[in-house]
Amino acid sequence: MRAPLHITIRQLEVFESVARQLSYTRAAETLHLTQPAVSMQVKQLEESIGLPLFEQIGKKIFLTAAGELMLGHAITIQEHLKAAKEEMDELKGVDSGRLLIGVVSTVNYFAARLLASFSREYPKVELKLDVTNRETLLRKLELNEPDLVLMGQPPNNLDVNAADFMDNPLLVVAAPDHPLVKTEKIPLNSLINETFVIREKGSGTRLAMERFFADYDFKPRSTVEMAGNEVIKQAIEVGLGLSVLSEHTVDLELSASRLIKLDVIGTPIIRRWYIAHRTGKRLTPTAASFKQFVLDEGARQSRKSRN
Ligand code: PGA
Repeated sequence: MRAPLHITIRQLEVFESVARQLSYTRAAETLHLTQPAVSMQVKQLEESIGLPLFEQIGKKIFLTAAGELMLGHAITIQEHLKAAKEEMDELKGVDSGRLLIGVVSTVNYFAARLLASFSREYPKVELKLDVTNRETLLRKLELNEPDLVLMGQPPNNLDVNAADFMDNPLLVVAAPDHPLVKTEKIPLNSLINETFVIREKGSGTRLAMERFFADYDFKPRSTVEMAGNEVIKQAIEVGLGLSVLSEHTVDLELSASRLIKLDVIGTPIIRRWYIAHRTGKRLTPTAASFKQFVLDEGARQSRKSRN
């Protein structure tokens, strides 16, 4: 087996300077070293390599064939080091870098606004938003893919660091011509004959709805399953039945009276939104500032809704 090459970055730096200027004296001046120190570094490098790098003819020095080859490597290594330093410096900076944010589909309704205002404050940060349902997001979180995720109740079976930042009220929504539109304090059990349009398996909204139904020992006679909030909203608007959806997904339809919320006892079901990452993950400064931004934004929103 060949012995590994024991050379130092400093030796390469000194060698490169001598090789480019073809002068020990000038290299010493450039590097603020004495000339014997420069000669010593080059000599040690030659010893490790086992070949001379320079030859002296008359008063001039020239690169040997080994020296030519080594100069190419020395330049490449220095360039790599420079690039590594620049990338590390970028990671250290808050105002640049990349950020991959995973969100559950329901968060998507306010994520765009959140990212837009973060992006106004940190225009150099490259943001990527990944929208999936809860189950898929949890899988990605387990693989530590996203920098941060925005989701409902974090799972118990995964080590995550989660901070809640905003209410997520879930409502029972209906078409505006539903007979119970004006009724107050509707007991859930009186909706037994209604068709409930429910989210796909793996959805956090669906989990919350199932828990709510279980608390009231309620089982609707008929359910229709649909994937995603948008298609459910359309189904409700055309009178297919009722649904339990996050207020964030329907606030436009509610204010345009295209959907209405029923005053069902126990609603709104108040859940919270969380910003989370795997425990032990080392947040980049950019990710840490996004997290703080979301927490501040959440606090601002709750102050607004209290006033
Ligand atoms: P969902 O998640 O969009 O998958 O329903 C919402 C939630 O976690 O509350």
